[in-house]
Amino acid sequence: MHIHRLEKYWLIFGVSMLIVFLSVVGVGAFSLGMEPPGGHRHTVDPSRLAETPPFDKPGLKQVGEKEYEANLIAFAFGFTPDKLEIPLGAKVHFSVTSQDVVHGMQVNGTTINMMVIPGEVNHMTYTFDKPGEYLVLCNEYCGAAHEVMMMKIIVK
Ligand code: CUA
Repeated sequence: MHIHRLEKYWLIFGVSMLIVFLSVVGVGAFSLGMEPPGGHRHTVDPSRLAETPPFDKPGLKQVGEKEYEANLIAFAFGFTPDKLEIPLGAKVHFSVTSQDVVHGMQVNGTTINMMVIPGEVNHMTYTFDKPGEYLVLCNEYCGAAHEVMMMKIIVK
């Protein structure tokens, strides 16, 4: 097939524009992909929780006067630790992750309700100003014993 000189120029021009266009789109998509959506997102390797602070020492840690961190690991079918004792009036910063599948963490009688996703750390802060025993339940179906997956928070 014979291609006229002018058509050849147009062909080269078209291909060059295509390459420019693709690289702009490609670079754009790449930089967007590197930016995690929605700001702060904390990731963790679910197979290495035993060596990954703060999950290497799960439980309650005092970080100020009446201020604590609670680092919890959800698993099929329970939580580590299975009980927290929190002083009345304490402000608690929860960090929760899963070592296996997606779980939920709902603390009855409070506004605490979060998804617990393997590979991610979910955060929530709550001040316990009513004494009592709070039941913590998993509210995402996670397998055969989902219904009995729970822990306790005792506030006194
Ligand atoms: Cu864990 Cu349902």
